[in-house]
Amino acid sequence: MSSITLNKVTKRYGSLVTVDALDLEIDQGEFLAFLGPSGCGKTTTLRMIAGLTIPDGGSIHFGNREVTDLPPYLRNAGLVFQGYALFPHMTVAENIAFGLEMRKVDKRDIEPRVTEALRLVRMDHLADRLPRQMSGGQQQRVALARAIVYRPDALLLDEPLSALDAKLRHEVRTELRALQKDLGLTTVFVTHDQDEAISVADRIVVMSNGRIEQIGTPDGIYERPANRFVAEFIGTSNFLSGSMDGKDRFKLASGEVIGFGHVGAGSEKSTISIRPEQIRLRAPSTKPRAGVSGNEIGATVESIIYRGNMTEIVVGAGAQRLTVHQQNGFGRGVPEFEPGQAVVLEWSPDAAVLL
Ligand SMILES: Nc1ncnc2c1ncn2[C@@H]1O[C@H](COP(=O)(O)OP(=O)(O)OP(=O)(O)O)[C@@H](O)[C@H]1O
Ligand SMILES: [Mg+2]
Repeated sequence: MSSITLNKVTKRYGSLVTVDALDLEIDQGEFLAFLGPSGCGKTTTLRMIAGLTIPDGGSIHFGNREVTDLPPYLRNAGLVFQGYALFPHMTVAENIAFGLEMRKVDKRDIEPRVTEALRLVRMDHLADRLPRQMSGGQQQRVALARAIVYRPDALLLDEPLSALDAKLRHEVRTELRALQKDLGLTTVFVTHDQDEAISVADRIVVMSNGRIEQIGTPDGIYERPANRFVAEFIGTSNFLSGSMDGKDRFKLASGEVIGFGHVGAGSEKSTISIRPEQIRLRAPSTKPRAGVSGNEIGATVESIIYRGNMTEIVVGAGAQRLTVHQQNGFGRGVPEFEPGQAVVLEWSPDAAVLL
């Protein structure tokens, strides 16, 4: 297994800088997920790590070994890319065994390892099928089995579960994560699904326009977004505008002064970000909860939408509109508030990030 280091890696297509001087260190055995809007450069970055695309600038190392200009087969990475097809004339089992035969794995070990890999992706019953006799999701699972079976130094996966239905996707990702941990496989995983990235990754890279917006653990990215782009792209957030009032207080446009627990990476300092589930509502006549005093503003309920596990309440506070998520359950049903009602919003300073 090896670590992977990207140093100022750059790729241009015509005048477009697709990947812009990217620096990244992926630890040995780490599961790293790439998230970002369509066209931000995720696949291009992964292709450069795999050797399918050669960078215009910068360098890539696997451990101490420079691989920047090496072809894919000299990198010992397991790949699942869109359009990286199975061999059409070989059965499922033969497709998976191929990588082991090429690597001169002992013949007696091949069959059990092929079976193990197929079981992981729930495809052991179709071992004798040809690729053209399978659905897209089934082929995708075979491609995943083929990438892991020879225990590569690194696993590079571009939306490997995208063709699977929600339930299977959840199962396969859980098993993939368990296997990856077991084998200590350094893994880079591109996905569109932020829930997937948050649930399986050790760290998440959020990209936009060929650059990294933030690298962090799932809870770090979610609870302490570095900037507005990340706060909006991962989950949803409320943004309150205003300006600094002294060193550690923030004055909202509406005049209220509030505290904050975290500061983002930018220099603007003109917005407070708060997640919808961090805000509590109470009637103005009731007392504030312990620990949240000083972080409250008055508002009016505009709409209440029951969403099953939670209720979404939209409130207006001056010119701003905020969304509050109230968890249902433990005997709590639809909250006691109604449209038009005056309420107080309160939150812990720790839940507020200054951007
Ligand atoms: N071979 C190519 N020739 C020209 N432009 C390319 C090529 N490959 C990618 N691009 C451009 O580079 C940009 C980044 O593409 P990339 O495939 O890396 O995006 P992505 O983040 O993987 O997006 P998606 O989430 O839609 O898969 C896009 O604007 C794309 O059009
Ligand atoms: Mg892509």
